[in-house]
Amino acid sequence: MLKLTIAQKLAVTKRISAFTLVAADGEALPGYTAGAHIAVETAAGPRSYSLIDWPGDTPGAYSIAVQREDAGDGGSKAMHALSKGDTITAAEPKNDFEIRTEDKPAALLAGGIGVTPLISMATALRAQSRPFVFHYCGRSADVMAWLDRLRDEFGGSFHAHFDDTAPLDLNTLMAGLTGHALYICGPKGMIDAARAAAEAAGISDIHVELFTNAAPAAGDSAFEVEIASSGQVITVAPDQTIIEALEAAGLDPLYDCQRGDCGICQTEVIAGTPDHRDVVLSQAERDSGKVMQICVSRALSARLVLDL
Ligand code: FES
Repeated sequence: MLKLTIAQKLAVTKRISAFTLVAADGEALPGYTAGAHIAVETAAGPRSYSLIDWPGDTPGAYSIAVQREDAGDGGSKAMHALSKGDTITAAEPKNDFEIRTEDKPAALLAGGIGVTPLISMATALRAQSRPFVFHYCGRSADVMAWLDRLRDEFGGSFHAHFDDTAPLDLNTLMAGLTGHALYICGPKGMIDAARAAAEAAGISDIHVELFTNAAPAAGDSAFEVEIASSGQVITVAPDQTIIEALEAAGLDPLYDCQRGDCGICQTEVIAGTPDHRDVVLSQAERDSGKVMQICVSRALSARLVLDL
């Protein structure tokens, strides 16, 4: 774990604050690549924040931005309560959202505070003289972070879209992006809509990162999971994920993001009908019913038999 001191805290919008973090002991911080995040220990538990790089930044500090969610579980409010000089603890940077495809132009699509990892990607792509377009959507200009700076830094590659005055038409956008590798970061509804439009346009090179934690929803009910290798049957309570139920039963499932975007927990479904809530599977994979992300997805049938 890293001990980090807040060297600077700046209000970017009414709800978004940017934090510059340095090592509390003055040592050099571990490096990372564009798209990486750190998991910060907050009063409400660990919260992941993407590391932000701008062109010309000098290494030596981490930069993150936190949007205050007044109806959230308290993690963002705890971050906003911190001040310059305070010390926090975070895990070393980790990257589940790297720039992967080298031989295609990149299309970066951000929704809301999901802009943060894509700023770092645009910075990296520009430094490598690789072609990219960067689309940033938000409810209105006044709630979107760094619009002027993004226009200044990325010029004609950058396009802002405002839901209240000039909303983005995803189908038109995707039709013009065939041949691109697509990187999307934002809330689940936007990722789902963008993925569907991209797949309809024939784009298959799609990488996503969800910006909110996916949790059991009100109205969810219990179901059973049968472990195919042992026959053990485990009940998943309404307020539990499959992974939580497996761990409570003493099993050791493989997982990482617990948001449904990294793909690590993907599990084959032998019987039963999954209720897909991830953002990583393609529509064809969801429709097949043969595979699911057990960190967020649930069941439409009374029992799932999983290849575990
Ligand atoms: S742990 Fe990342 S998709 Fe499930």
